[in-house]
Amino acid sequence: MLPTESLLADFLILDQSIHGRRLVYLDNAATTQKPMSVLLTSRHYYEAINSNIHRGTHQLARAATESFENARKTVATYLNAASTDEVIFTSGTTAGINLVSNILALSGRLRAGDEILISALEHHSNIVPWQMLCERTGSVLKIIPCDDHGVLDQEAFSKILSSRTKVMALTWISNAFGTVNPVIEMTRAAKEMGALVLIDAAQSAAHLPTDVQALGADFLVFSGHKLYAPTGIGVLWGRAEILNDLPPFLGGGEMIKEVTFEKTTYNGLPFKYEAGTPNIEGAIALAAAIEYVNGIGVGAIHAHEMELIRSAAEGLSSIKGIHLYGPADRSGSLSFSIEGLHHYDIGTLMDQMGVAVRTGHHCCQPLMARFGITGTVRASFALYNTAEDVAALIAATEKAAGMLR
Ligand code: ALA
Repeated sequence: MLPTESLLADFLILDQSIHGRRLVYLDNAATTQKPMSVLLTSRHYYEAINSNIHRGTHQLARAATESFENARKTVATYLNAASTDEVIFTSGTTAGINLVSNILALSGRLRAGDEILISALEHHSNIVPWQMLCERTGSVLKIIPCDDHGVLDQEAFSKILSSRTKVMALTWISNAFGTVNPVIEMTRAAKEMGALVLIDAAQSAAHLPTDVQALGADFLVFSGHKLYAPTGIGVLWGRAEILNDLPPFLGGGEMIKEVTFEKTTYNGLPFKYEAGTPNIEGAIALAAAIEYVNGIGVGAIHAHEMELIRSAAEGLSSIKGIHLYGPADRSGSLSFSIEGLHHYDIGTLMDQMGVAVRTGHHCCQPLMARFGITGTVRASFALYNTAEDVAALIAATEKAAGMLR
């Protein structure tokens, strides 16, 4: 287990009472808390070097530019990207997926009858942009189904995948059930069919090591705020030879080489996809968050969380009428419902006991429909969670259930 006592000292927000009870924060799949080093990095940026980047010749502009580009290097190393040119700063996962779906639409690569493959486990942000792309191009959305444990049906996948599949967009870890998809194998199969592959790493980037070269996909997206960084910063990693081939999307400053009223030529990667002033402080703070995670080790963080999640699942499973979703080797998130009780009521009572969980459909309405439910209660874990948090989760769930029966 991680030395949570010393780690907790880095997260002052967790040292507070909610409704007179110790805060037990188990909503990390929605957003993680930020360590002191990240907060100080954001503050230092505004106190010491705030300036626009890639523009001014003055000292502050140079310092901000250097920090921003160093942040890109930190991200590239975290992802094992072949080049920093492949790291595009975005506002988050949703922006990254929408950027890719829009440049694919503009590229003319998709035609009526082509297929876009997603899975039953996807978040709305990895469904809706593809539906919008289908509307624009006449492509058809195909869904890889999951079994009753929330595990993707690999036999069905191999039947749906065909030479018509032009894009596969797949989550690495389900935000709703914690299912870890075999992304390397599925990417390989899709690539063999000639499809482009996008991996939604929103829920994996803080829990699993990410090696985009080993993964073999073409695009990978994640959000900083689920990786101990601020909101409003995220990353699209894209294979350089593909991004070089695709058209720009947002037009404006930074993404140009030369502008005349007759014609504009575009900048190279990564700037081609970074029109306008980016979230400079966010990118620098994201690098600080990655350094914090690297200082502990993402493998050690994962092992710690897996131990907590397994013991939470074991403890919760003895509660009368409970149903746990997802496979036993779930990662990050643990979802459950209790027969006859509404997830919202359970979550509200748990909050009264200081335990913060998410309730509802988790932006996965099709997945909820597949299981015939409107939502679940979801506890999701981070590096600072402890065995005491797990005990509080189990006790609060049991008590809430008892009060509602
Ligand atoms: N996508 C985030 C979640 O699952 C907000 O809670």
